[in-house]
Formats: sequence, C-alpha cells, structure tokens
Amino acid sequence: MANNLLQGKRGIIFGALDENSIAWKTAIKVKEEGGLFTLTNAPIAMRLGKINELAKTCNAEIIPADATVEEDLNNLFTKSMEVLGGKLDFVLHSIGMSPNIRKGKSYGDMNYDWYLKTLDISALSFHKVLQTAEKLDAMNEWGSILALTYIAAQRSYPDYTDMAQAKAMLESIARSYGARFAELKKVRVNTISQSPTKTTAGAGISGFDVFYDFAEMMSPLGNASAEDCANYITVMFSDFTRMVTMQNLMHDGGFSSTGITQALIDRLAK
Ligand SMILES: NC(=O)c1ccc[n+]([C@@H]2O[C@H](COP(=O)([O-])OP(=O)(O)OC[C@H]3O[C@@H](n4cnc5c(N)ncnc54)[C@H](O)[C@@H]3O)[C@@H](O)[C@H]2O)c1
Repeated sequence: MANNLLQGKRGIIFGALDENSIAWKTAIKVKEEGGLFTLTNAPIAMRLGKINELAKTCNAEIIPADATVEEDLNNLFTKSMEVLGGKLDFVLHSIGMSPNIRKGKSYGDMNYDWYLKTLDISALSFHKVLQTAEKLDAMNEWGSILALTYIAAQRSYPDYTDMAQAKAMLESIARSYGARFAELKKVRVNTISQSPTKTTAGAGISGFDVFYDFAEMMSPLGNASAEDCANYITVMFSDFTRMVTMQNLMHDGGFSSTGITQALIDRLAK
C-alpha cells in the first residue's frame, strides 16, 4: 500500500540492470510512493540490460552515464534537473563491479590496473556523484543521497577480494562528504549495508550461494531481500529520516550483531 512518502520529490536512480537489481526494485517502490526520477546506467550495461522496460513501467527518462566519467555525470545531473523540472531530493548510487572478481583472480594474484578500476567504479564514482551534485548546486535542502555497501568492508570474506577495499572507501566517502554536504546544504549522505542478495553483482562472487545460506542462518530475521532494501531506501529518501546522516546503516536481518544463532548451532551439532 502506498503512502505518498515521496510525493513532490525528484531524484536520480543509478544501477538498474535487470529485474533482480536492487535499483530496479527501488525504482518501482519510489514510483509507487510518488517520487519522480531519471534512470541511469553505464552505456554498455544499457545495451545488455532491460532498463527500457523499467523506464516504461515507471514513466521515467533514461540518461546514460558511466559513473566514473565526470562529463557524463555533469550531463546526467543537468539533464535530470531539466527533465524533472527542478533541483533534486534524492540520489541512489547502486553501482559495483570488480574486473578481478569477474576474471576469477585470487587475492594473492591481483591485477593492479583492474584493482584501480574496481575502486574507481565501486567507490570513487560515489565521490564524483557527490562532487558533481555540489558543483551544479543540484540538491534541495534536506535531500538524501545513498550508496549500497556490504559488510565485507568490516570483515574478511575470501572471495570478495578488492571489493572489500572498495566498500570500505565508499563508506568513508559517505562520512567525509556527509559532513561537508550537511553544513553546506543540509543534504544527508549515508550507506546501506545490505544482506547478500541474488542479483547479477551478487551472484558474480564465487561461493555466493554458500555465503547467502550462511547469512540466512546467521541472521535472526533472515536475509533482507532486494524488496526490503527498496523499502528502506524509500524511507531514507523521505522526510521521516531528516536527521540521519554520515551513517553506515546495517540492513541485514540482525547478521552484524549476531554471535551465533540457534539455527547454526543445530546445524553444526549434527
Ligand atoms: N547483491 C548483493 O549481494 C549485494 C549485497 C550488498 C551490497 N550490494 C551492492 O548493491 C549495489 C547494487 O548491486 P546489485 O546487487 O543490485 O547488482 P546489479 O548487478 O544489478 O547492479 C550493479 C550495477 O552497477 C552498474 N555499473 C557497473 N559499472 C558501472 C559504471 N561504470 N557506471 C555506472 N553504472 C555501473 C551495473 O551496470 C549494474 O546496473 C552494488 O553497490 C552492490 O555492491 C549488493
């Protein structure tokens, strides 16, 4: 049931590739709650993905942008304000990619050009988004900017390799830029640390099914789904969370505070 939580708000949603994407579910939810937005993705992903389908459903314009290219981001923010008829209230950065993970490289055999690409795409792009928004004065006061992260920023996971550093950097950028943007414009900047989720990015990590099942057993509420994440993002874009900024918000069914669960004890006792 919709509550018009985002009535009159405008924004940009990065990263909807297909119907499993967290950004895809978010677009549908934000639309239901009355938000207006443009959709964006890297030009290559737009050729492979199904973003046109989503744009039709949401009645949203697509503006391609590689999130690592400042010129693309300038164009995206400028055009979005034109298309939507004013400054923005929300931005979702839902972007992640590691060439090292894609090519199956182990942590002891990193290709450093690809390592830098991982950091550029998955972390530095968030700074570029924030800096572009500031320079173009694109955000309304009390606007909300979010990026998605994973608990591998704080704990080791064998196959998450260089993405762990990318997520740590992403969370740090949210804190540093959050302080700046709050003082400048009362704009909020946070990261949401999401449970393992069955998407293209998620399933690209080897052993994903095992750590998905492990997280499910280690989370008293179970894993948070992409739909749950879309709901949380919607609330974080709304005026009900005006004083939340510079946080890494755990959205994980309790995983991050759990030592062990009864489900795991029972399983291991067998
Ligand atoms: N799936 C999980 O288990 C999980 C868990 C926690 C956090 N996350 C994070 O959620 C976010 C969204 O991922 P998802 O799981 O929905 O997967 P997804 O594969 O559907 O989305 C990742 C998106 O990043 C986009 N992208 C890659 N390079 C880009 C570039 N240069 N410019 C612009 N866009 C680019 C892709 O095209 C894709 O749309 C990512 O930051 C991911 O790390 C995912």
